Amino acid sequence: MGALRTLQVALPEAANDVAQGLGGRPKSLPPRLFYDAIGSRLFERITRLPEYYLTRTESGILDTCAAEVLQRAESPAANLSLVELGAGTAAKTSTLIRALLRRQLQVEFYPIDVCESALQVARQSLMAISPRVKFHPLVADYTQGLGAAAHLPGRKLVLYLGSSIGNFEPEDAAALLRRLRCCLQGGDSLLLGVDLAKSPALLAPAYNDRAGVTARFNKNVLARINRELGGHFDLRAFRHVAEWNHTRSRMEMYLESRWPQAVAIDLLDMRVAFAAGERIHTENSYKYTPLMARSLFQDSGFELEQTWTDQRGWFALYLAKPAREPSSFVSSADRDDHRSGLANQRQANRQLTILGGNAS
Ligand code: TRP
Repeated sequence: MGALRTLQVALPEAANDVAQGLGGRPKSLPPRLFYDAIGSRLFERITRLPEYYLTRTESGILDTCAAEVLQRAESPAANLSLVELGAGTAAKTSTLIRALLRRQLQVEFYPIDVCESALQVARQSLMAISPRVKFHPLVADYTQGLGAAAHLPGRKLVLYLGSSIGNFEPEDAAALLRRLRCCLQGGDSLLLGVDLAKSPALLAPAYNDRAGVTARFNKNVLARINRELGGHFDLRAFRHVAEWNHTRSRMEMYLESRWPQAVAIDLLDMRVAFAAGERIHTENSYKYTPLMARSLFQDSGFELEQTWTDQRGWFALYLAKPAREPSSFVSSADRDDHRSGLANQRQANRQLTILGGNAS
């Protein structure tokens, strides 16, 4: 099996992320560092944990509603292409692809992910479904790569699943969807998977499982710094912490130093001092209320078409379409954003020339 022929979009250097995050106060590390090959595999294991209800619940909704989702998303005139932001191994996408194959001859699938090895797995499992699935991977941070969606021919359904939107601050989430909105046309749509606010008794175990997989996943950022930047983190000297913040409606993830220590990172020529109990903030996972979801769409120029939830009301799939009047949401404050959306599109244009050549 040959390597994926993909375009490596210049990622912000892990080095910069680490130097800034560990040099700052309070200390933090950006979540994108989680998803190297090892982290992506650990995350796959998280999605199968008994405590991690998110993936299972979202898949369940997709299984029951795929045909309906497509019916609402589809334009009768043109084939529907699928674009998936942060596709990973695209395990959940197969349901939609199968349903789409019942409606059209061919499915063009454009998964975007930072992790090339996860996309390899996606390719293999989707190839097994049918030769009528055409796979066009893009190895990129989807916040950079989403402009690639702008120049695809025909109608598209953009999938953004797994409640990854919850890993952004609400205003950044809206800014991301606004940029996505700029890449879409009338007739295109967005399917957004969002974890809903619920009892901390259910939330906390989902982010701190008994088998310790989530702890390993969180600590993998330190292991990665050791591997890639010559760091000297002792993983046993840090504790995985997951806390519910009710006021902000989010789970917060930290790595907490068990005792005072100083850690050298050779390639950065850096020595990071930790007090006992000092934390590195690694991730937030916002849990949306219906009100938060409504303002997210309103603030980003989308119109909510339809909502599907599971019977317990734990997770929601939202189908949204670009609002008819884009000018009503592009306020002066957003104009920069709009412009960067256009810049992204231009960049995407170049990417797609290459992508087009890579169609398998
Ligand atoms: N998108 C996932 C979520 O918010 C990411 C995630 C799951 C995660 N478990 C985690 C991130 C533990 C950090 C630590 O649910």
